[in-house]
Amino acid sequence: MDKKIYLAGGCFWGVEHFFGGVDGVLSAISGYANGNIAAPSYEQVYTDKTGFAETVEVTYDPSRISLRELLELYFCIIDPLSVNKQGHDEGTRYRTGIYWCDEEDAQAVGQVFEGQQRKAGKPLAVETGPLRNFYKAEEYHQEYLDKNPAGYCHLPLKTFRYLRAYQDLANLLEGEDDMVAKMAETSSVIHARMRFFWTGFYIVRGDVLVLGPFQGTPACLRIGYGKGVCGTAWKEDRTVIVPDVEEFPGHIACSSESRSEIVLPLRKDGKVTAVLDIDSDSPATFDSTDALWLEKMLSLL
Ligand code: SME
Repeated sequence: MDKKIYLAGGCFWGVEHFFGGVDGVLSAISGYANGNIAAPSYEQVYTDKTGFAETVEVTYDPSRISLRELLELYFCIIDPLSVNKQGHDEGTRYRTGIYWCDEEDAQAVGQVFEGQQRKAGKPLAVETGPLRNFYKAEEYHQEYLDKNPAGYCHLPLKTFRYLRAYQDLANLLEGEDDMVAKMAETSSVIHARMRFFWTGFYIVRGDVLVLGPFQGTPACLRIGYGKGVCGTAWKEDRTVIVPDVEEFPGHIACSSESRSEIVLPLRKDGKVTAVLDIDSDSPATFDSTDALWLEKMLSLL
């Protein structure tokens, strides 16, 4: 039996486009939820006086995707701390909210919400509660970004490519437990979907990082603890984003074409066992969106 959940995450054009691309989602429909008048128009909602939130009705097949997984993806595309503002869009109609139509979903919503709140360490601005009403938005709002590929989207466009990369990897790695195979597949998926200049792993071997599976030009074979960006990410056990490699003291230049870089630790039992290193041939390529999705991809390993 198909199920529905109603997700408000800022401008519905991008949110609908995102959930339309999630495996297991059967339809994503833009509309207005939990307001105070019947059958509102976009213009009425736009006044911000009707109480409606721009909301996407997500219909999914629970045998293919769980509500929990859907909600975890939802948290990848919102700022849960921001009040009545997502991206540049401001107003109560852009508030974030998770509304259920089936009381038995309240528990899963509560658990994901609590988990995210613990991670944030602050109270979240995301509303949760039962759906009171939902009205489908005008036809020109439906599949807006398919109809207008250059149209406005408050989400970074790379979000949609990362979603596909994440889902590809989840499918490809299912049932595999060999780490080298998983690293090789991960490098390949990121390369195929994101087209960065260099993508690969360095594996912890004693007190040194040794080159692992990668896609790109030949690279240095070994990097010491605390050396370069990779050794720093290992030593400090954190994601390191370098907007300009020339500004990073001790950066190791494997290729003169590399201009910016992101390195993320891969952990097992709380210890760093490898790092994922990605180089771009343009400056300032990486930001918190890359960090979030790449961390999510590494969680599949
Ligand atoms: N630039 C890295 C070395 C690895 S290459 O980018 C592939 C660093 O400073 O650690």
